[in-house]
Amino acid sequence: MKAIPHESANAHVTGAALYTDDLCGRFPDLLHAWPVTSPHAHARVVRISTNGVPNVLTAADVPGENDSGSVQHDEPLFPDEVMYHQQPVAWVLADTLEAARAGAAAVRVEYEPLPAILTIEDAIAAESFLAKPLNITRGETSLIDSTPLRFSGELKIGGQEHFYLETQCAIASLDENGGIVVQSSTQHPTETQDIVARVLGIPWNRVTVECIRMGGAFGGKEVQANPFAAVAALGAWKTKRPVRVRLPRALDMALTGKRHPFLARYEAGFRRDGRLEGVRIALYSDGGWSLDLSGPVIARAMFHVDNAYLLPAAEITGQICRTHKTSQTAFRGFGGPQGMIVIEEIMDQAARRLGLAPDLVRERNFYREGDVTHYGQTVKHPGRMQTIWDQLKTTSSFESRREATNAFNASHRHTKRGLAITPMKFGISFTATFMNQAGALVIIYRDGSVQVNHGGTEMGQGLHTKIGQIASDALEIPLDRIRVMPTRTDKIPNTSATAASASTDLNGAAVLDACMQLKARLAPFPDIAAAYRARVPLFAQGFYRTPGIAYDPATLTGKPFHYYAWGAAVSEVEIDLFTGDFRLLRVDLLEDVGSSVSPLIDRGQIEGGFMQGLGWLTIEELLWDAQGRVATNGASTYKLPSWSELPEIFNVAFLERAADPDVIFGSKAVGEPPLMLALSVREAIRDAIAACGPGGPVALPSPATPEQIFFAIQQVRVAEIAEAALIS
Ligand code: MTE
Ligand code: HPA
Ligand code: MOS
Repeated sequence: MKAIPHESANAHVTGAALYTDDLCGRFPDLLHAWPVTSPHAHARVVRISTNGVPNVLTAADVPGENDSGSVQHDEPLFPDEVMYHQQPVAWVLADTLEAARAGAAAVRVEYEPLPAILTIEDAIAAESFLAKPLNITRGETSLIDSTPLRFSGELKIGGQEHFYLETQCAIASLDENGGIVVQSSTQHPTETQDIVARVLGIPWNRVTVECIRMGGAFGGKEVQANPFAAVAALGAWKTKRPVRVRLPRALDMALTGKRHPFLARYEAGFRRDGRLEGVRIALYSDGGWSLDLSGPVIARAMFHVDNAYLLPAAEITGQICRTHKTSQTAFRGFGGPQGMIVIEEIMDQAARRLGLAPDLVRERNFYREGDVTHYGQTVKHPGRMQTIWDQLKTTSSFESRREATNAFNASHRHTKRGLAITPMKFGISFTATFMNQAGALVIIYRDGSVQVNHGGTEMGQGLHTKIGQIASDALEIPLDRIRVMPTRTDKIPNTSATAASASTDLNGAAVLDACMQLKARLAPFPDIAAAYRARVPLFAQGFYRTPGIAYDPATLTGKPFHYYAWGAAVSEVEIDLFTGDFRLLRVDLLEDVGSSVSPLIDRGQIEGGFMQGLGWLTIEELLWDAQGRVATNGASTYKLPSWSELPEIFNVAFLERAADPDVIFGSKAVGEPPLMLALSVREAIRDAIAACGPGGPVALPSPATPEQIFFAIQQVRVAEIAEAALIS
């Protein structure tokens, strides 16, 4: 379909676009909230004394359940045991933010400090886990023991801060007949409604949640908007005045969950030709203090340890560690990236041990027609991987640049270049089958103008743009006759989170359903006025459920995904041997987006997703200090990719003639998959490091910061010196 800009593009760049906090002015008499936060990562709360401070919210004010946990009721809103540094134990409301802040500082809290577990290794040693161990086994992994190439290793994988530009925010107010309205920057208005109702002890029909748009979410508002909406709602309930909660950056970074750090331990067996015989992979995630979405995140990681490769024999285990840190949560890719980085690590290790080109080893292990994943799903269209691979190698001149890179490295002592190509396959659907449903309400007014309501939220990804285009195409009317409305729980009930990249697939199909009903009803009439006079209903509800998926969460097997998104990336880097710094010289991306509903939006998602992945893999480093405090709590200490990290040459292409007949308008999901194309940057960096030594495997933790690159260079140079000594 047509390439058009994001519906809010102008408003985004001029500042005219409103976000939740911009609605403050609509609420005279607004109260501001500030948390009383714990100075310990783990402690018992012995006593809270308000010390004369008015309007302090504590557990005693909660009329319903004192809990905001999404999957499990394991997150007391006002805890008697503090589980992470700076966890709020009470909230203070006041007429100004400054007064609320001063009030929070005056509240006296007595703690009894307890020992804290702060690393995955310590959690494993203490057997501190948030759930039962998970396991997927296929084939005879004992075969690994008799393969020509056997090796084992460990990979540390860092987390990631969402750094959405708009921090967590909610404004709650009472309505005129016993209800509460919450404006929330949430990816999941229905769940926010659920949690507010739970905390207030009232039925869902008295709670309305609206999300006008988000200034980025990236998974960080899939469940973690809920506690802040609940605090605002509780404050409004108690004081009968509107209450605003908005976290400044440092507080947002201290209080909210991140991408899960992982630790992976693996054993792999390969044939001499580079074909994988089998793997054993143990994944440990750092879940933080509560379960949150850690269950489906580690499951998705376990599903994606194959990336685009057949694992003939596999034993994959998963454990969620409980640590005294923020509760780690959804983040673009949802565990997929942490699974895929492990198999890419294994492929590169195998290639360099066998003395084969890494791209050759990768290609030899691609899924072929008829292959089944380790979790039992037959791979649809596996041939797309080879098609994409061959095309991208051609368009990026991979082979000639391989030679040029080698020549450059032979003639340069203090800088080295690296080149790598990596594949990407990502499963589309919520793994929890029931979540793959969506609703819509399309209204035609008598003047012919149209309002479209659907259950998805807009976070910058362009969902509303695509929905508008779908409705315009289906109703055969110009886009400017259509308004896509803000998301509200009283328009579309019982929705799923806007997540898993599936929101156009799901909500778009529901909108299409409603539009087609209206079109059929209008067909016999010359115009809308005639249809109205004939008493034809001019509004329709639409619904969609993804067909043909089912999986058993007990065994982690079945068909969790409706289809796969495919892609590949070539990256070329240059590293500085004195500093470990790197430059990204050129990137070529090729992604299968099916037949794009909105090519400009998709291009933006691919470029942005790739850059976010690059940040995760190279410069974004989360550090916690010995007290469990997030030491990197602002843009000054947490390095984000920006203009200067963009590749000097950046080519993005879509696979042609790739329409998928099983998805709306033949399109494919695009929100998360491109993040994992950034794995090519990590492998290119490793290729450059390898060029500093005699060849052989290169250990590299993630993120591959300049510091880590520098250490890795020293390691391969030691190997070279040792080899030289042997020869002489
Ligand atoms: N793009 C922008 N600009 N901002 C975001 O917050 N979130 C990502 C992705 N792209 C995000 C984004 C994540 S984590 C997901 S799951 C998808 O968008 C969700 O939207 P979709 O289902 O419409 O693709
Ligand atoms: N992806 C993203 N978000 C989710 C999922 C998923 O598979 N399951 C529950 N929330
Ligand atoms: Mo995206 S991590 O599924 O919100």
